[in-house]
Amino acid sequence: MISKPKIAVLISGGGTNLQAIIDSLKSGELSGEIVCVLSNKKEAYGLMRAFKNGIPSEFVKNSAMKETIEKYSPDIVVLAGYLGILEKPFIERYLGRIINIHPSLIPKYCGKGFYGIKVHEAVIQNREKISGATVHLVDEGVDTGEILIQREVPVLDSDDASTLQKRVLEVEHKILIEGIEMLRRRM
Ligand code: GRF
Repeated sequence: MISKPKIAVLISGGGTNLQAIIDSLKSGELSGEIVCVLSNKKEAYGLMRAFKNGIPSEFVKNSAMKETIEKYSPDIVVLAGYLGILEKPFIERYLGRIINIHPSLIPKYCGKGFYGIKVHEAVIQNREKISGATVHLVDEGVDTGEILIQREVPVLDSDDASTLQKRVLEVEHKILIEGIEMLRRRM
């Protein structure tokens, strides 16, 4: 177990999962320190969230991610809405210490092409009654690593993809924190 892990957060978008980590560290719900926020999208609002909280942040191409993250020597790497596919050397270097949050109950609606709103559109289209979110370790496959936590979310008759996405995000924010804590205790 690491008492206060150094956490690197990789993002590509708005960063509400990043915000959940920032808030849980502030409240003491989670132990650790965010040492950097790295984004493969220059315009990602998550970079602004990092800036507002005094966290080092950078726009980094996916191919330069390994070299850049070494500067911060993280204990744990969190993919919080990161849409790049990490390269093999990166995964080998941090194997067992990288976690991802995915907005479905893996193995359903995951893998290539299933990300962001596309997941929820497919769930609605297939008239699913239950959806949810998954925290898993990252290996060389896409959404194939060991599952740490899953939580179900009911799909309401009145739902469309964006109302469902909002409700699943609320659950993501909770289980991502639990997932980081689970990994911290394992290390
Ligand atoms: C989340 O639903 C996450 O599961 C998915 O992308 C979305 C990112 O949301 N991979 P945010 O940037 O954390 O708000």
